[in-house]
Amino acid sequence: MREIALNILDIAENSVKAKATLVEITVTAENNVLTVTITDNGVGMSKDFLERVTDPFTTTRTTRKVGMGIPLFKDAAEMTGGSFGIESEPGRGTRVTAKFVLDSIDRAPLGDIADTAVTLLAPGIDFVWVYTVDKRSFTFDTREIKAELGDIPIDSPEIISFLRNLLKENIESINGGITI
Ligand SMILES: Nc1ncnc2c1ncn2[C@@H]1O[C@H](COP(=O)(O)OP(=O)(O)OP(=O)(O)O)[C@@H](O)[C@H]1O
Ligand SMILES: [Mg+2]
Repeated sequence: MREIALNILDIAENSVKAKATLVEITVTAENNVLTVTITDNGVGMSKDFLERVTDPFTTTRTTRKVGMGIPLFKDAAEMTGGSFGIESEPGRGTRVTAKFVLDSIDRAPLGDIADTAVTLLAPGIDFVWVYTVDKRSFTFDTREIKAELGDIPIDSPEIISFLRNLLKENIESINGGITI
């Protein structure tokens, strides 16, 4: 099974391609449900396009005729008995919501969220990650990090390695010994 962190990477890359300047990602595990939301302020999609977007043959890619990011995420969530939805408005942005039944045998492991978060780091776009397990929560906001860094680019190797460790430690502490 493909890790959910890789689905999140795919969906966040859609936000980057949609020229978003801010992407908020929430990962919440509580009451046997894992909820993931990815919200961006990118170009959005028309109502007509949105109705077709969960079909693999809907894509604005020019290099191949299928787009799999959204259909794979939808399938991964629905396979567990969970749900999937997208809201979008042209010129305003898009929100993707996936709900997974945590104890379903068909649920993929969450995987390496810290790795996904650092892979996405770039100077021209900001990310807010909110990671919650039960009532314990951790927020990572690249706007705050960039303010501290000043002229040092957030995607320089030393910063990436520092932030990966920071994220890993916080995620482990929120998990409290369990693996999601
Ligand atoms: N956040 C978004 N904002 C605006 N348009 C989006 C967004 N996410 C997806 N889309 C549109 O929906 C299409 C389908 O997305 P999907 O991720 O399923 O496939 P893809 O990105 O085209 O290809 P792949 O993910 O396989 O590289 C995209 O080509 C894009 O036009
Ligand atoms: Mg995609």
